[in-house]
Amino acid sequence: MIIKTLKFAAVAVAVSASLSFSAIASATTEIKAAFNQSDKHPQFIALQEFGEKLNTETDGRYKLTIYPNALLGDQRAALELVQNGAIQMAMVANPLVENYDKTFRVLGMPYIYTGSKHQEKVFTSGELDTLFSSTQKFGFEVLTAYTAGARSMYTKKAPVTNIADMKGMKIRVMQSNTMIKILDCMGGTGVPMSQGEVYTAIQQGVLDGAENNEITYADLKQYEVAPYFSATRHLMVPDLLIVSSDFISTMSEEDQVTLRRLAKESTPAQFKMWNDRIDSAKATAKSKGATFTEVDIKPFQQSCQKLQEELIETEEQKALFKKIVSMG
Ligand code: GCU
Repeated sequence: MIIKTLKFAAVAVAVSASLSFSAIASATTEIKAAFNQSDKHPQFIALQEFGEKLNTETDGRYKLTIYPNALLGDQRAALELVQNGAIQMAMVANPLVENYDKTFRVLGMPYIYTGSKHQEKVFTSGELDTLFSSTQKFGFEVLTAYTAGARSMYTKKAPVTNIADMKGMKIRVMQSNTMIKILDCMGGTGVPMSQGEVYTAIQQGVLDGAENNEITYADLKQYEVAPYFSATRHLMVPDLLIVSSDFISTMSEEDQVTLRRLAKESTPAQFKMWNDRIDSAKATAKSKGATFTEVDIKPFQQSCQKLQEELIETEEQKALFKKIVSMG
Protein backbone atom coordinates (compact mmCIF):
# COMPACT_ATOMS: atom_id res chain seq x y z
CA MET A 1 0.00 0.00 0.00
CA ILE A 2 2.75 2.37 1.03
CA ILE A 3 4.72 1.44 -2.07
CA LYS A 4 1.65 2.01 -4.26
CA THR A 5 1.11 5.46 -2.77
CA LEU A 6 4.74 6.37 -3.26
CA LYS A 7 4.61 5.26 -6.89
CA PHE A 8 1.50 7.32 -7.47
CA ALA A 9 3.16 10.36 -5.88
CA ALA A 10 6.26 9.91 -8.06
CA VAL A 11 4.16 9.73 -11.23
CA ALA A 12 2.18 12.78 -10.16
CA VAL A 13 5.38 14.76 -9.55
CA ALA A 14 6.82 13.69 -12.91
CA VAL A 15 3.62 14.62 -14.74
CA SER A 16 3.37 18.00 -13.09
CA ALA A 17 7.09 18.65 -13.72
CA SER A 18 6.69 17.85 -17.40
CA LEU A 19 3.55 19.99 -17.57
CA SER A 20 5.28 22.97 -16.05
CA PHE A 21 8.31 22.36 -18.28
CA SER A 22 6.19 22.42 -21.41
CA ALA A 23 4.36 25.48 -20.11
CA ILE A 24 7.71 27.27 -19.80
CA ALA A 25 8.94 25.93 -23.12
CA SER A 26 5.90 27.15 -24.98
CA ALA A 27 6.17 30.56 -23.34
CA THR A 28 9.71 31.04 -24.67
CA THR A 29 10.01 32.30 -28.22
CA GLU A 30 13.22 31.55 -30.03
CA ILE A 31 14.81 34.33 -32.05
CA LYS A 32 17.00 32.90 -34.79
CA ALA A 33 19.79 35.24 -35.90
CA ALA A 34 21.98 34.72 -38.95
CA PHE A 35 25.65 35.64 -38.70
CA ASN A 36 28.23 35.08 -41.42
CA GLN A 37 31.38 34.89 -39.30
CA SER A 38 32.70 32.73 -36.49
CA ASP A 39 31.52 32.38 -32.90
CA LYS A 40 34.82 33.97 -31.76
CA HIS A 41 34.10 37.20 -33.67
CA PRO A 42 33.53 40.31 -31.48
CA GLN A 43 30.11 40.86 -33.06
CA PHE A 44 29.06 37.32 -32.14
CA ILE A 45 30.11 37.87 -28.54
CA ALA A 46 28.34 41.23 -28.34
CA LEU A 47 25.19 39.66 -29.80
CA GLN A 48 25.36 36.81 -27.34
CA GLU A 49 25.51 39.27 -24.43
CA PHE A 50 22.58 41.14 -25.93
CA GLY A 51 20.64 37.86 -26.14
CA GLU A 52 21.35 37.01 -22.50
CA LYS A 53 20.13 40.41 -21.34
CA LEU A 54 17.03 40.12 -23.50
CA ASN A 55 16.27 36.75 -21.97
CA THR A 56 16.65 38.10 -18.43
CA GLU A 57 14.79 41.34 -18.98
CA THR A 58 11.82 39.64 -20.66
CA ASP A 59 11.66 37.02 -17.88
CA GLY A 60 12.60 34.28 -20.31
CA ARG A 61 9.99 35.14 -22.95
CA TYR A 62 12.69 35.42 -25.66
CA LYS A 63 15.77 33.37 -26.31
CA LEU A 64 18.30 34.33 -28.96
CA THR A 65 20.06 31.62 -30.97
CA ILE A 66 22.83 32.86 -33.24
CA TYR A 67 23.78 30.73 -36.25
CA PRO A 68 27.42 31.60 -37.09
CA ASN A 69 29.55 30.83 -40.17
CA ALA A 70 26.77 31.66 -42.64
CA LEU A 71 24.89 28.47 -41.64
CA LEU A 72 21.65 30.16 -42.65
CA GLY A 73 23.09 31.47 -45.93
CA ASP A 74 25.14 34.46 -47.02
CA GLN A 75 24.11 37.96 -45.97
CA ARG A 76 21.92 38.59 -48.99
CA ALA A 77 20.00 35.36 -48.40
CA ALA A 78 19.79 36.07 -44.65
CA LEU A 79 18.30 39.48 -45.27
CA GLU A 80 15.58 37.93 -47.43
CA LEU A 81 14.85 35.31 -44.76
CA VAL A 82 14.36 38.13 -42.25
CA GLN A 83 12.15 40.05 -44.67
CA ASN A 84 9.81 37.13 -45.21
CA GLY A 85 9.82 36.20 -41.52
CA ALA A 86 11.51 32.78 -41.93
CA ILE A 87 14.10 33.93 -39.39
CA GLN A 88 13.87 36.83 -36.98
CA MET A 89 17.25 38.58 -37.07
CA ALA A 90 20.48 38.91 -39.04
CA MET A 91 23.70 40.84 -39.00
CA VAL A 92 24.26 42.27 -42.47
CA ALA A 93 26.78 44.69 -43.90
CA ASN A 94 25.53 48.20 -44.70
CA PRO A 95 25.85 47.84 -48.52
CA LEU A 96 23.17 45.12 -48.46
CA VAL A 97 20.69 47.52 -46.85
CA GLU A 98 21.84 50.32 -49.12
CA ASN A 99 20.48 48.24 -52.00
CA TYR A 100 16.99 49.02 -50.56
CA ASP A 101 17.51 52.66 -49.57
CA LYS A 102 20.44 54.63 -50.89
CA THR A 103 20.45 57.02 -47.92
CA PHE A 104 22.37 54.24 -46.14
CA ARG A 105 25.16 54.71 -48.66
CA VAL A 106 26.37 57.72 -46.67
CA LEU A 107 27.16 55.51 -43.63
CA GLY A 108 29.69 53.57 -45.65
CA MET A 109 31.32 56.27 -47.78
CA PRO A 110 35.07 56.21 -48.26
CA TYR A 111 37.00 58.12 -45.61
CA ILE A 112 33.87 59.59 -43.97
CA TYR A 113 34.89 58.75 -40.39
CA THR A 114 38.09 60.06 -38.88
CA GLY A 115 38.43 56.86 -36.84
CA SER A 116 36.74 54.48 -34.42
CA LYS A 117 35.81 57.20 -31.86
CA HIS A 118 34.06 59.25 -34.51
CA GLN A 119 32.18 56.22 -35.80
CA GLU A 120 31.09 55.22 -32.29
CA LYS A 121 29.87 58.74 -31.64
CA VAL A 122 27.74 58.61 -34.79
CA PHE A 123 26.31 55.15 -34.07
CA THR A 124 25.39 56.00 -30.48
CA SER A 125 24.13 59.54 -31.12
CA GLY A 126 20.50 58.66 -31.81
CA GLU A 127 20.82 60.62 -35.08
CA LEU A 128 20.33 57.44 -37.13
CA ASP A 129 17.11 56.33 -35.38
CA THR A 130 14.70 57.69 -38.00
CA LEU A 131 16.69 56.23 -40.87
CA PHE A 132 16.92 52.88 -39.09
CA SER A 133 13.19 52.55 -38.49
CA SER A 134 12.34 53.77 -42.00
CA THR A 135 13.22 50.37 -43.48
CA GLN A 136 10.08 48.87 -41.92
CA LYS A 137 8.43 49.38 -45.30
CA PHE A 138 10.79 46.71 -46.66
CA GLY A 139 9.81 44.21 -43.96
CA PHE A 140 12.71 44.73 -41.59
CA GLU A 141 13.98 47.28 -39.11
CA VAL A 142 17.56 48.21 -38.27
CA LEU A 143 18.05 47.90 -34.52
CA THR A 144 21.60 49.16 -34.24
CA ALA A 145 24.93 49.47 -36.04
CA TYR A 146 28.08 47.60 -35.06
CA THR A 147 31.58 48.48 -36.09
CA ALA A 148 33.54 46.30 -38.48
CA GLY A 149 36.66 48.45 -38.15
CA ALA A 150 38.47 49.88 -41.17
CA ARG A 151 38.85 48.00 -44.42
CA SER A 152 42.18 47.74 -46.21
CA MET A 153 43.47 46.03 -49.36
CA TYR A 154 45.15 42.64 -49.26
CA THR A 155 46.69 41.02 -52.25
CA LYS A 156 48.32 37.89 -53.49
CA LYS A 157 51.60 39.01 -55.04
CA ALA A 158 52.84 42.34 -53.61
CA PRO A 159 51.74 45.13 -51.27
CA VAL A 160 49.72 48.09 -52.55
CA THR A 161 51.33 51.39 -51.67
CA ASN A 162 49.83 53.73 -54.27
CA ILE A 163 47.08 54.01 -56.85
CA ALA A 164 49.33 52.82 -59.67
CA ASP A 165 49.87 49.50 -57.84
CA MET A 166 46.13 48.85 -58.11
CA LYS A 167 46.04 49.07 -61.89
CA GLY A 168 44.46 45.98 -63.46
CA MET A 169 43.88 44.34 -60.07
CA LYS A 170 40.67 42.40 -59.59
CA ILE A 171 39.61 42.90 -56.01
CA ARG A 172 36.58 41.30 -54.39
CA VAL A 173 34.03 43.77 -53.01
CA MET A 174 30.71 43.39 -51.18
CA GLN A 175 27.60 43.12 -53.32
CA SER A 176 26.68 46.74 -54.12
CA ASN A 177 27.37 49.23 -56.91
CA THR A 178 28.89 51.71 -54.49
CA MET A 179 31.57 49.17 -53.57
CA ILE A 180 32.43 48.71 -57.25
CA LYS A 181 32.76 52.49 -57.67
CA ILE A 182 34.99 52.73 -54.62
CA LEU A 183 37.34 50.17 -56.09
CA ASP A 184 37.41 52.28 -59.22
CA CYS A 185 38.53 55.39 -57.35
CA MET A 186 41.16 53.33 -55.55
CA GLY A 187 42.58 52.45 -58.98
CA GLY A 188 41.49 48.80 -59.36
CA THR A 189 38.49 46.75 -60.48
CA GLY A 190 35.85 45.65 -58.00
CA VAL A 191 34.37 42.17 -58.34
CA PRO A 192 31.20 41.74 -56.22
CA MET A 193 30.77 38.37 -54.50
CA SER A 194 29.75 36.97 -51.14
CA GLN A 195 32.36 36.53 -48.41
CA GLY A 196 32.23 32.73 -48.47
CA GLU A 197 33.63 32.55 -52.01
CA VAL A 198 36.60 34.89 -51.56
CA TYR A 199 39.26 32.48 -50.32
CA THR A 200 38.89 30.05 -53.22
CA ALA A 201 38.55 32.83 -55.81
CA ILE A 202 41.90 34.31 -54.73
CA GLN A 203 43.48 30.89 -54.50
CA GLN A 204 42.39 30.02 -58.04
CA GLY A 205 43.57 33.34 -59.43
CA VAL A 206 40.07 34.64 -60.29
CA LEU A 207 40.90 37.55 -57.98
CA ASP A 208 44.16 39.34 -57.19
CA GLY A 209 42.96 40.11 -53.70
CA ALA A 210 40.20 41.48 -51.53
CA GLU A 211 39.60 44.23 -49.01
CA ASN A 212 38.45 43.81 -45.45
CA ASN A 213 39.33 44.45 -41.81
CA GLU A 214 42.15 42.72 -39.91
CA ILE A 215 39.81 40.51 -37.86
CA THR A 216 37.97 39.01 -40.82
CA TYR A 217 41.28 38.69 -42.67
CA ALA A 218 42.72 36.62 -39.83
CA ASP A 219 39.58 34.68 -38.84
CA LEU A 220 38.94 33.51 -42.39
CA LYS A 221 42.63 32.72 -42.89
CA GLN A 222 42.70 34.84 -46.02
CA TYR A 223 46.38 35.59 -45.31
CA GLU A 224 47.05 32.09 -46.64
CA VAL A 225 46.07 33.19 -50.15
CA ALA A 226 46.72 36.95 -49.98
CA PRO A 227 49.62 37.58 -47.60
CA TYR A 228 50.17 41.30 -48.37
CA PHE A 229 47.93 43.46 -46.19
CA SER A 230 48.24 47.17 -47.07
CA ALA A 231 46.67 49.62 -44.61
CA THR A 232 44.64 51.76 -47.03
CA ARG A 233 41.85 52.05 -44.42
CA HIS A 234 39.59 53.32 -47.19
CA LEU A 235 36.26 52.30 -45.68
CA MET A 236 34.63 51.91 -42.29
CA VAL A 237 31.48 50.14 -43.35
CA PRO A 238 29.05 49.40 -40.51
CA ASP A 239 27.29 46.10 -39.97
CA LEU A 240 23.60 46.40 -39.17
CA LEU A 241 21.55 44.26 -36.82
CA ILE A 242 18.18 43.81 -38.48
CA VAL A 243 14.91 42.35 -37.18
CA SER A 244 11.88 41.14 -39.07
CA SER A 245 8.99 43.65 -38.93
CA ASP A 246 6.44 40.83 -38.82
CA PHE A 247 8.24 39.28 -35.89
CA ILE A 248 8.69 42.44 -33.85
CA SER A 249 5.01 43.27 -34.26
CA THR A 250 4.15 40.01 -32.45
CA MET A 251 5.93 41.27 -29.31
CA SER A 252 4.18 43.31 -26.61
CA GLU A 253 4.89 47.06 -26.68
CA GLU A 254 7.00 46.67 -23.57
CA ASP A 255 9.10 43.84 -24.99
CA GLN A 256 9.63 45.78 -28.23
CA VAL A 257 10.99 48.72 -26.24
CA THR A 258 13.29 46.37 -24.32
CA LEU A 259 14.56 44.72 -27.50
CA ARG A 260 15.29 48.04 -29.20
CA ARG A 261 16.95 49.50 -26.12
CA LEU A 262 19.18 46.49 -25.43
CA ALA A 263 20.27 46.32 -29.06
CA LYS A 264 21.34 49.96 -28.96
CA GLU A 265 23.06 49.51 -25.63
CA SER A 266 25.14 46.65 -27.02
CA THR A 267 26.93 48.91 -29.51
CA PRO A 268 29.50 50.62 -27.22
CA ALA A 269 30.51 47.23 -25.75
CA GLN A 270 30.92 45.86 -29.26
CA PHE A 271 33.25 48.75 -30.21
CA LYS A 272 35.43 47.95 -27.22
CA MET A 273 35.52 44.22 -28.04
CA TRP A 274 36.44 45.08 -31.60
CA ASN A 275 39.30 47.40 -30.72
CA ASP A 276 40.64 44.93 -28.17
CA ARG A 277 40.84 42.17 -30.81
CA ILE A 278 42.68 43.99 -33.64
CA ASP A 279 46.23 43.47 -32.36
CA SER A 280 45.79 39.76 -31.75
CA ALA A 281 44.24 39.31 -35.21
CA LYS A 282 47.27 41.02 -36.75
CA ALA A 283 49.65 38.94 -34.65
CA THR A 284 47.94 35.72 -35.78
CA ALA A 285 48.16 36.72 -39.44
CA LYS A 286 51.82 37.76 -39.03
CA SER A 287 52.73 34.51 -37.36
CA LYS A 288 51.35 32.73 -40.43
CA GLY A 289 53.46 34.79 -42.81
CA ALA A 290 51.35 37.88 -43.56
CA THR A 291 53.08 41.22 -44.10
CA PHE A 292 51.44 44.45 -42.94
CA THR A 293 52.43 47.59 -44.86
CA GLU A 294 51.62 51.16 -43.83
CA VAL A 295 50.29 53.28 -46.69
CA ASP A 296 50.17 57.02 -47.35
CA ILE A 297 46.39 57.33 -47.66
CA LYS A 298 46.30 60.92 -48.99
CA PRO A 299 46.42 60.07 -52.71
CA PHE A 300 43.61 57.54 -52.21
CA GLN A 301 41.59 60.09 -50.24
CA GLN A 302 42.06 62.67 -52.98
CA SER A 303 41.16 60.24 -55.69
CA CYS A 304 37.94 59.28 -53.84
CA GLN A 305 36.94 62.87 -53.07
CA LYS A 306 35.10 63.21 -56.39
CA LEU A 307 33.28 59.97 -55.75
CA GLN A 308 32.05 61.24 -52.39
CA GLU A 309 30.41 64.13 -54.22
CA GLU A 310 29.01 61.85 -56.89
CA LEU A 311 27.54 59.44 -54.35
CA ILE A 312 25.54 62.16 -52.63
CA GLU A 313 22.47 62.60 -54.80
CA THR A 314 19.55 63.38 -52.49
CA GLU A 315 18.78 66.00 -49.85
CA GLU A 316 18.57 63.28 -47.17
CA GLN A 317 22.02 62.03 -48.10
CA LYS A 318 23.41 65.55 -48.06
CA ALA A 319 21.97 66.26 -44.60
CA LEU A 320 23.22 62.96 -43.20
CA PHE A 321 26.68 63.47 -44.66
CA LYS A 322 26.93 66.93 -43.09
CA LYS A 323 25.76 65.63 -39.74
CA ILE A 324 28.27 62.77 -39.69
CA VAL A 325 31.17 64.98 -40.72
CA SER A 326 30.23 67.57 -38.07
CA MET A 327 30.57 64.91 -35.35
CA GLY A 328 34.16 64.13 -36.29
C1 GCU B 1 33.19 42.43 -42.88
C2 GCU B 1 31.83 42.64 -42.29
C3 GCU B 1 30.86 41.58 -42.75
C4 GCU B 1 30.91 41.40 -44.23
C5 GCU B 1 32.31 41.20 -44.70
C6 GCU B 1 32.38 41.12 -46.23
O1 GCU B 1 33.80 41.38 -42.30
O2 GCU B 1 31.90 42.64 -40.89
O3 GCU B 1 29.57 41.91 -42.37
O4 GCU B 1 30.17 40.30 -44.62
O5 GCU B 1 33.12 42.24 -44.26
O6 GCU B 1 33.29 41.68 -46.78
O7 GCU B 1 31.52 40.49 -46.83
